[in-house]
Amino acid sequence: MGRPTDVSQAASVVPDGVTIFDTTLRDGEQSPGISLDAREKVEIAEQLARLQVDVIEAGFSAASPGDFDAVKAVAEIVGNAPRAAQGPGGSQGESDHREPPVIAALARAIPADIEAAAKSLAPARRHRIHTFLSTSDIHRRYMLQASEDEILAQAVRAIELARTFTDDVEFSPQDATRTDFPFLVDIVAAAVEAGATTVNIPDTVGYALPHDFGGWIAELHRRIPDIAAKDVVISVHCHNDLGLAVANSLEAVRNGARQIEVAVNGIGERAGNCSLEEVVMAIRTRADLLGVDHALHTPELTRTSRLVSSLTGYSVQKNKPVVGANAFAHESGIHQHGVLADRLTYEIIRSEDVGADGSQIVLGKHSGRHAFFKAVEDLGFELDEAEAQNAFRRFKDLADRKGIVSSEDVAAIVIAETHVKAD
Ligand code: KIV
Ligand code: ZN
Repeated sequence: MGRPTDVSQAASVVPDGVTIFDTTLRDGEQSPGISLDAREKVEIAEQLARLQVDVIEAGFSAASPGDFDAVKAVAEIVGNAPRAAQGPGGSQGESDHREPPVIAALARAIPADIEAAAKSLAPARRHRIHTFLSTSDIHRRYMLQASEDEILAQAVRAIELARTFTDDVEFSPQDATRTDFPFLVDIVAAAVEAGATTVNIPDTVGYALPHDFGGWIAELHRRIPDIAAKDVVISVHCHNDLGLAVANSLEAVRNGARQIEVAVNGIGERAGNCSLEEVVMAIRTRADLLGVDHALHTPELTRTSRLVSSLTGYSVQKNKPVVGANAFAHESGIHQHGVLADRLTYEIIRSEDVGADGSQIVLGKHSGRHAFFKAVEDLGFELDEAEAQNAFRRFKDLADRKGIVSSEDVAAIVIAETHVKAD
């Protein structure tokens, strides 16, 4: 990826919404070893609807008969069930219902795929065909053996065909970030002209760097006035090969992208996709800087993460931002002291805003007196000065040997100490 000419700073930020397009059931399912059947896809899609995701990419209909059936089942069931409207903080009006989510399916830019996608999506009240074609030199040479002109013509034909089935068509120039920028501009302009309502810029191999990527998004808007004139949404789909998927997505939003493609727990091809929970909490937490928000009901995040983890068999690492077991856990004495006084000293997200269990004070060798004596008090013990000194010393010895000291361990320490004294 290189800089297009005249890339300037972030485009002006307007206070409006970012569409959250979830691809857990399509790109997420492309993680090695994951295969979800129709029942499992419906269960996850129902949870995504509770989370208030805007678009659910349910699968790749032409990939297998099973995926066709799964997309159809999601379209029938989730694509027709209104979502209960919930405010960001969890308020829910009984009579207030939002439209069902848009259900999308992926299709290569060939008629058979587009027709399969259209057929499987037909039962959904609102549906989108997402068609894609590689545009980078390396993909064109080794995978497609096609010239830029041939690729452009094929993309236009695919979009026009998709538009005969639905007025909601998304086009992705695959490997966009390794595509010659002038050709990317040409194909995006042609896609808009052919009727694509969303044009997605995939960082297919996670190659982009944030500032550079943001510049490309701004420059596409500048060079193609029809994006604004026709209300076309520029979307991004960032892979995480360099650990930059969330950063790249945020930089794209700062530069005018209004859809981001994400997967729960960041699953997906290779190192995965932009993690849903991380990017939506980054946007919500720093809306002050970004000037945009989304409509997700974030208290459903932890439940969604756990469901996807259990149905895919992909566990979530403890230190995963937002939904990891340690996201609200504090081990060191200095941090514990602060959190016990006011959790905002070391937490930038309220645990209830992501549906997590709350702040946890974990006792270990870095813990201090505040946390230890709080645990003693919570267990209902009272110690005199000498008992407290000795109990704290025993606790530090045990923490050195054991790592984490449980409340049962604390009780045992206190009992041992008070018995010693009684003896
Ligand atoms: O990574 C990618 O390029 C994709 C496209 C199909 C959008 O998943
Ligand atoms: Zn992808």
